[in-house]
Amino acid sequence: MAKNTTIFVCSSCGNESPKWLGKCPGCGGWNTYYEEKVVKDKTTNQKRIAASETIKLNSVETTKYERYKTGYEELDRVLGGGLVQGSLVLLGGEPGIGKSTLIMQICDKVKVDGPVLYVSGEESASQIKMRADRLGINNENIFFLGETSIELIDEAIEKVKPGLVIIDSIQTMYSEEISSAPGSVSQVREATSKIMMMCKKQNITTIIIGHVTKDGAIAGPRVLEHMVDTVLYLEGERYFSYRVLRGVKNRFGSTNEIGLFEMRDIGMAEIDNPSDIMITEREDNPSGSVIVAPVEGTRPMLIEIQALLTPTAFGLPRRTGIGIDYNRLVLLMAVLEKRASLPLGNQDAYVNVVSGIQIDEPATDLGIALAVASSFKNVPLPKDLVAIGEIGLTGEIRTVNSLEKRIKEADRMGFKTCIIAESGRKQLKYKGNINIIGVKNIREAINSAFGK
Ligand code: TYD
Ligand code: MG
Repeated sequence: MAKNTTIFVCSSCGNESPKWLGKCPGCGGWNTYYEEKVVKDKTTNQKRIAASETIKLNSVETTKYERYKTGYEELDRVLGGGLVQGSLVLLGGEPGIGKSTLIMQICDKVKVDGPVLYVSGEESASQIKMRADRLGINNENIFFLGETSIELIDEAIEKVKPGLVIIDSIQTMYSEEISSAPGSVSQVREATSKIMMMCKKQNITTIIIGHVTKDGAIAGPRVLEHMVDTVLYLEGERYFSYRVLRGVKNRFGSTNEIGLFEMRDIGMAEIDNPSDIMITEREDNPSGSVIVAPVEGTRPMLIEIQALLTPTAFGLPRRTGIGIDYNRLVLLMAVLEKRASLPLGNQDAYVNVVSGIQIDEPATDLGIALAVASSFKNVPLPKDLVAIGEIGLTGEIRTVNSLEKRIKEADRMGFKTCIIAESGRKQLKYKGNINIIGVKNIREAINSAFGK
């Protein structure tokens, strides 16, 4: 075995060095070196032997995954039907978004075989207990360990034999085999791979919490995504109470589901009927407001979009989109200007998705365009109107997937009129109480929305 057990590797070009370097001689990048453990020859040999034994894929017996219900429908759906036994889940999110809170609530509700071990390197036992008290949790089955050394955590796991282990957070954990500081890329990776081995060997379900900043800048969960089975992100604006739980990777289910929660003063509450809360606080008759129906995963939601247009006071007009893609907004305004002859070139535009949720579905194009047009004209749209459709560059309205589902949701919520693409209306079989208007292009859409 070589004397050095760690080497330093450049994260952008892969150049190796026995010591840390500030500037990479290979690619010239600054501060790109991180420490990596040298894999011993023995393991490589073992791997080689294992790989050489080929078997017929058809002869492999599949096992059905045992799933634990977490006690939260919203989470179970994102996980694909519950927490898979023996799986390794990464829950990422910005600091303070509510990860520890959500996990604590799950620890209380989840039904696993054996105790739950909550390992925290961030908070003391009394802090965790205070949170549990605040959440009204009094559970004999939860064990706490305030530890940051992976080797010691391993020992504790041997002793407690838990059914579920929580690691809060991976940035505070370190392995004694690597000298760099906790939170560095190499420590985070090494700690995760140790946890992974531990959890796979003993078939223990493990949830790792990891902090990410908005741009994923710090050594965060992004580097671990390939190691774990499931990656979930908890998102939301800190000053809004809604939280979106998104599946980014899932070896045991689909990744297009989201879960909705609300951060209350006694913890995270599930939102199983999103449309109810996204539109209840509507002003009576505002201009620039319209309801859209995006589908997240399999579930349609109704969300309000608000636009405000004001004449540009100086220089270039501003466009600001909160909760929608900036480029999409600019594109839609250009289409409105050219295809519907709205002179928007000297208008500042601000478009906001109410409730702090991010929507990036083209199906909301028509709603955004109508909200902009309504604010520009300063004429309110009917309060009971829902707009569903994608807008093309020639101003045509295209139909969208899951159309019937969206219309059903609008109908269920008591909306009276729905503007959709004419091509979609022709194929639609749904007959509810809602009046469906088909339009071919943006000009027609504006005319029928404003009742011309
Ligand atoms: P926390 O779960 O500690 O966030 P994370 O682990 O992602 O860093 O939650 C932090 C915030 O949540 C904190 O600002 C207080 C707030 N909070 C509530 O609003 N209600 C609650 O019941 C709890 C426990 C926390
Ligand atoms: Mg926390």
